[in-house]
Amino acid sequence: PDYTITVDPAATGAAIPRSMYGVFFEDINYAADGGLYAELVRNRSFEFNTTDASGYNGLTAWTVAGAAVVTNDAQRLNERNRNYLAVTGATTLTNAGYNTGLAVRRSDRYDFSVWARGSTTIEATLTTADGTALSAPVTIAAAGDAWKKYTGTLRATATSDAARLTVRTAGSVLLDEVSLFPRDTYRGRANGLRKDLAQKVADLKPGFVRFPGGCLVNTGSMYSYDAANNYPRARSYQWKDTVGPVETRATNKNFWGYNQSYGLGYYEYFQFSEDIGAMPLPVLPALVTGCGQNRATVDEALLQRHIQDALDLIEYANGPVTSTWGRLRAESGHPKPFGLTTVAVGNEENLPEEYWANFLRFESAIKAKHPEITVVSNSGPDDQGGTFENLWAKNREHGSDMVDEHYYNSPAWFLQNNKRYDAYDRNGPKVFLGEYASLDNKLYNSLAEAAYMTGLERNADVVKMASYAPLLANIDNVQWKPDMIWFDNDESWGSTSYQVQKLFMNNVGDRVLPSSATGNVLQPKPITGAIGLSTWRTAAVYDDVKVTRPDGTVLYSDDFGDGNADGWTSVTNRGNWAVTNGAYTQTTTDTEDTMVKAATIGETDYDYTLKATKTA
Ligand code: AHR
Repeated sequence: PDYTITVDPAATGAAIPRSMYGVFFEDINYAADGGLYAELVRNRSFEFNTTDASGYNGLTAWTVAGAAVVTNDAQRLNERNRNYLAVTGATTLTNAGYNTGLAVRRSDRYDFSVWARGSTTIEATLTTADGTALSAPVTIAAAGDAWKKYTGTLRATATSDAARLTVRTAGSVLLDEVSLFPRDTYRGRANGLRKDLAQKVADLKPGFVRFPGGCLVNTGSMYSYDAANNYPRARSYQWKDTVGPVETRATNKNFWGYNQSYGLGYYEYFQFSEDIGAMPLPVLPALVTGCGQNRATVDEALLQRHIQDALDLIEYANGPVTSTWGRLRAESGHPKPFGLTTVAVGNEENLPEEYWANFLRFESAIKAKHPEITVVSNSGPDDQGGTFENLWAKNREHGSDMVDEHYYNSPAWFLQNNKRYDAYDRNGPKVFLGEYASLDNKLYNSLAEAAYMTGLERNADVVKMASYAPLLANIDNVQWKPDMIWFDNDESWGSTSYQVQKLFMNNVGDRVLPSSATGNVLQPKPITGAIGLSTWRTAAVYDDVKVTRPDGTVLYSDDFGDGNADGWTSVTNRGNWAVTNGAYTQTTTDTEDTMVKAATIGETDYDYTLKATKTA
């Protein structure tokens, strides 16, 4: 052999925690509604709104033959579920579900429910798009002038991935929260999860579940409750909006450009984490918005309320059934505590001063009441794999428990940075690598990730948790890729990165055994002062980009039109950079006037050094 690997079984390396590798679930790419959340009816509560996405309205996904009007007035079901459908006379309503339609399997049972106010007959049936029955109807006799929930069971007579739910009324009635769930959810839970997707996540054997975001968490944090309408449209993700009976949970505008129902909420996240033996790891908004928004709240009362929400969340998860929030957990079906040990505050915070001030407030309130809880801080926005020095310095000085880092990079970056954590302070805050991925869904990307994970594991005394991101993508509604698990309405499949994650999670070691390799071993090339690249980040501003070959000759350089390649004078240039098979492509999305050209670097080798001055 031309190389030798030496492992010393007697040497004592770092212990590897069971929670080392986990998953990060965010409602991106329709991961929740139309995805992991098993509800088959789209826009079940008629709350879709043009604020969520252009073209949406209260009847999105529904067709009406007859007369029905989406109405918001005092007759509403409750203050959170404000719209309802006022049906006049005999009317047929058809819901088209997600992707090609509702996915149903021959002989399987489906639980239909509807809230109705008024007296008439309501008939629900599974049908094809052209109205052919795919089940016997269930007939409901609605009665009385008060909202009441009615239920029935449909059994599919054929398998289809393009079914419809057809609801016929014999006369006038008010309807809301029209729902159809497969009986066969993951672990058979009511208001449960789609079995194949939940099973794929469970098969990973994740050590933790980070939820619910991501950019989803912080965005909109500064919006206070819309008191006039008592309506949380475009409000940040707040856990109290997502618990209790589903018909009392509002829907909201999702950061990723669609409507989110909150049917999959904190109770369901905790329950799922428990079901798959993973540690729940909620992320709370810090009232400073990252993800390109760059705003911080100046509303002290709002900040106070969010801090109190954090304390209430710990009571919801861990408190006795006699406590206010523990009682709500018990009423939902889980009297036993969920055993919450860790919470994260904030996501990709790019206003370091404002974030830090808020983080300290959250942390001290949590620690004062719950010293046992680990509070995860933040390293700042994805700076393409750099050092995140802004917030890291504060975290180090303060002695934070743990710091959340994110990066999405080329496979080259992952290979070149295998030793990233070798140099981290062994006595400083621990690292939570909350989001990472090599930027494509090809085998090479997954191999680069696998190689990188050996570096995480080798540093298990510093890196305590890591999760690939994003987890799920609905093939018809993709806002971000690569992704770990892909699906449509009746099928799902794991990427090669899924297989890598599964391999590592199913084989978490107990302890690092120090090893060394000698001989003709390919060593990763160090890159000094280099940055990686992101396909998405538009907020970073660069000047004077230079790519050099391993021998030091310049492959590509760009002063972005300021004519000052060596002076490193700043001009404001915004751009996206994409990485394709190791080639860096500048795709201009400049809002300023100086970056006009699209430059492609044709050579494809991962040994290049990319240098750029980050000016903002
Ligand atoms: O994982 C997708 C997004 O990437 C997350 O929402 C955000 O935190 C990051 O920028």
